[in-house]
Amino acid sequence: MACFLASAFLLVLQTYAAPTELVQAGFGITLDSMDLDPGLPVDVSGDVPSSPPPGTSKRAPHSIIIGVRKGGTRALLEMLDIHPEVAAAATEVHFFDWDENYAKGFEWYRDLMPYSYPNQITVEKTPGYFTSALAPERICAMNSSIKLLLILRDPSERVISDYTQVYFNRLENHKPVQAIENLLVRNGALNIRYKAIQRSLYDVHMRNWLRHFPLEQIHIVDGDALIRDPLPELQKVERFLNLPPRIVSSNFYFNQTKGFYCIRSDGRERCLHESKGRPHPAVNSTVLQQLRTYLQEHNRTFFRLVKRTFDWQ
Ligand SMILES: *[C@@H]1O[C@H](CO)[C@@H](O)[C@H](O)[C@H]1NC(C)=O
Ligand SMILES: *[C@@H]1O[C@H](CO)[C@@H](O)[C@H](O)[C@H]1NC(C)=O
Ligand SMILES: *[C@@H]1O[C@H](CO)[C@@H](O)[C@H](O)[C@H]1NC(C)=O
Ligand SMILES: *[C@@H]1O[C@H](CO)[C@@H](O)[C@H](O)[C@H]1NC(C)=O
Repeated sequence: MACFLASAFLLVLQTYAAPTELVQAGFGITLDSMDLDPGLPVDVSGDVPSSPPPGTSKRAPHSIIIGVRKGGTRALLEMLDIHPEVAAAATEVHFFDWDENYAKGFEWYRDLMPYSYPNQITVEKTPGYFTSALAPERICAMNSSIKLLLILRDPSERVISDYTQVYFNRLENHKPVQAIENLLVRNGALNIRYKAIQRSLYDVHMRNWLRHFPLEQIHIVDGDALIRDPLPELQKVERFLNLPPRIVSSNFYFNQTKGFYCIRSDGRERCLHESKGRPHPAVNSTVLQQLRTYLQEHNRTFFRLVKRTFDWQ
């Protein structure tokens, strides 16, 4: 499959500059059990050995989890890593986003991948790719038949989750924070230039990918479904990647305290990082409704583009 378009379609996303006033945000109502993307790196593939196991080599990824940020990319990669024929990359490279990385060439990129056996496929994730203007064309230039995984969740929930991550990062770095309403609303209207909203315009970003890849090469994982009941979603991914079915229900157990599934494989138990279940702010219902109404038309367009619907509220 040739790359659809040679010329890059530059999606100019407005940068949102945060004003400096300090605001107390009211946190603590809903615990978001789906907030599974890490702010911190988590051990994925076990340790990368200092000397490679015999018979292994480094190979460019066969599949990339391209996003979306706060969609559950970490959970998806961790769960896929259960599969014996998957070698998951431990680092996010942003190879296709950053000119200085891209200029170093595909060999440099391949060297950042884990050692894998010939029967394994390499999977990496970089959540920023989905909303990146450059990534689709560049990934296509590397391997036009690569299989792309995209995990999405309700776009308005994603906005709140995105805000929450930035909020806690800013707190940790002693930077001023704002109530979510101050970012979502400007002069009484929805502030559609706010980056977290821009990133939830799935139709806009999807169009950019569909200029370079056919729809059949992009498998969309329902992030809300993955968290509720991981196995069926993972089985669909196994089929998409032509992997034999190896992930089974006993690979998961529900942690009542956390409110989501943890992973059991190779005699090890793994839960996602503690920060993954952060409390979300209670958002003013008028503002939330404004956000939902705005996203609704975009999600309709998105459903048409991908010939599929999701039960986002
Ligand atoms: C490109 O991706 C496909 C699909 O995963 C894979 O079969 C193929 O080996 C890849 N090509 C290269 C050169 O990595
Ligand atoms: C369940 O989650 C709690 C809270 O994060 C954690 O302390 C505990 O170790 C987990 N239990 C299991 C069996 O994973
Ligand atoms: C929510 O925000 C609107 C303005 O956007 C305001 O009029 C209303 O009082 C707020 N509601 C609550 C419960 O704070
Ligand atoms: C998405 O679209 C569907 C169908 O058009 C609609 O019912 C739903 O409210 C929308 N969800 C969001 C979050 O906008």
